[in-house]
Amino acid sequence: MCGIMGYIGPRDAAKVVLGGLECLEYRGYDSAGIALAEGRKIGISKCVGSVANLKAQLAKNALSGKMGMGHTRWATHGGVTKENAHPHVDPDGKVVLIHNGIVENFHELGEEFAKKGVRFASETDTEVAAFLISSLYQNDPLLAIRKACARLRGSFAFVILFTDIDDRYYCVRKGPPLILGAADGEAFCASDAAALLPYTRNLLFLEDEEIAELSAEGIALYGFDGTPKEVHTKTVDWDASMTSKGMYPHFMLKEIEEQGNVLRQTLTKRIGGPEGRAIDLEEEFPFSREDVARFRRIHFVACGTSCHAAMVAGRLADKFTGLDVRVETASEYRSGSVICDDQTLAVFVSQSGETADTLAAARQARAKGARCLAVTNVVNSSLAREVGSVLELCAGPEIGVAATKTFMGQLAALTLLVLWIGKKKGNLDREKELRLTEEFARLPLKLENVIAQGETLRKMAEGCKDAFGFLFIGRGASYAIALEGALKLKEISYVHAEAHAAGEMKHGPIAILDVHLPVVAVVPKDDLYEKTLSNIQEARARNAPIIAIASEGDEDIFRFSDDCFFVPRTENELTPILTVVPLQLFAYHLASLLGREIDRPRNLAKSVTVE
Ligand code: F6R
Repeated sequence: MCGIMGYIGPRDAAKVVLGGLECLEYRGYDSAGIALAEGRKIGISKCVGSVANLKAQLAKNALSGKMGMGHTRWATHGGVTKENAHPHVDPDGKVVLIHNGIVENFHELGEEFAKKGVRFASETDTEVAAFLISSLYQNDPLLAIRKACARLRGSFAFVILFTDIDDRYYCVRKGPPLILGAADGEAFCASDAAALLPYTRNLLFLEDEEIAELSAEGIALYGFDGTPKEVHTKTVDWDASMTSKGMYPHFMLKEIEEQGNVLRQTLTKRIGGPEGRAIDLEEEFPFSREDVARFRRIHFVACGTSCHAAMVAGRLADKFTGLDVRVETASEYRSGSVICDDQTLAVFVSQSGETADTLAAARQARAKGARCLAVTNVVNSSLAREVGSVLELCAGPEIGVAATKTFMGQLAALTLLVLWIGKKKGNLDREKELRLTEEFARLPLKLENVIAQGETLRKMAEGCKDAFGFLFIGRGASYAIALEGALKLKEISYVHAEAHAAGEMKHGPIAILDVHLPVVAVVPKDDLYEKTLSNIQEARARNAPIIAIASEGDEDIFRFSDDCFFVPRTENELTPILTVVPLQLFAYHLASLLGREIDRPRNLAKSVTVE
């Protein structure tokens, strides 16, 4: 949660920091703030709400400087107030701090300081951390930071200015991401590489328990024990145009429309190989044939939308891997007594690679000896580094808070992963493989065909914009897609939506059905079609309006639904890739008709780096 941006160099720091904050706003938008150093004079401006509010405030009371830092907040400790907005200055006025994460022992430290008469201006853990550093500071900033880190528990990414130092600032990482970039005479830091792309693509991904000193001379790196470290930058292949909305009204729409290309990119390097039209994960899959033979279990662990992709993968894994399959949300996985050992392949799915619960679950599985794999869009993310082995999503940066194109990348990458394991285990014959790979090649166009029918979905959404809720149903992998459709809808439209396995409806949820509650049924023409159709009829008998997401050529569905949207026919295993798209667009248009803040829905932030 929270977005951080820092800068030192010849440019107008206010401009650089504000530009970065706009790019990072998806991480939190409860409040925003900036600190700018003009020599040793530090000016601070903070406000409740978005970066636009901060810009308006600065337009009236301008601040300037060549060194600065800014923050967009997703509130954890302390309400959404100007006092709690970052940056925070310690009560002695020596340290200015911005923070992403949670200092778990801040009560204990706060009480200790309060007994000494220290009075804090905010309710935040950040101000306590600022005072801790300040109280340990005697002309050696690095030493003060190191000593403070030794006393702090929890997770934190800090950017720190010292009020008596005007030629450098400091970054600290223990948990939440912090990425650094240095170019000629300037040095940047941000919570996400996307904010740095307008300036440099050579980035340093700060590791856990590292401290960086940033100045016009560049970056110096230290461990928490004070040992100097070598600075290794990596060149990323994302560019700044990927993080701009272009002509689109919202990032979400742009990202939905990019999904055909996401599919192409995800598939291109993984289909082909020496056999031609074969699934080939040889280079990325880190386990040998012997390892695969030893696996008894496969676990898919994730949160939110990523967990829905994991559910789809779980269904496929039941069919192709012959392993004991378990799919679980990361928060439950880590708090249960799951059997997980060196015969377990544990797959952690996370677009950001920074989700706290998924990271903790991965640590736990590793400690139990599981063989782990991260499926993520950010190859240098904490999850990727924790797990060591990565299957990349190839989706490019996703800015809209509601995940869409990364879900597509996850569906494609996980499907390939499961089929690859199936192949290694002798459960995927060549004929089936050929059918699937040929169909994979056709899918991007089919998907783009669905996207081209956005207007139909807008009209569909218009038809039910006054509904007080929605019930989504589906069976098998379509149940996971129903869950995803309901999540997308509630996330961005704030309209109540719930999803159930179609067969479960009669065990309770059917009680809420009436003429005011549309049922969205994901009902492709697969092995489960007829059973889902029976459930649709049950709902119809209770007067619920039915919206069906069905397969092209399915004439029967007209008789059982009030409105239908057809997706092109494909192999059963690949239908989720097509059926999810109308649901994303339906949610988008409904939210748009209701005038919601689509890219920044209330109460949410894109990366959930707290537990
Ligand atoms: C929904 C959404 C969230 C994320 C969840 C996990 O649109 O974006 O439900 O899927 O917070 O995030 P990652 O995939 O980054 O671990």
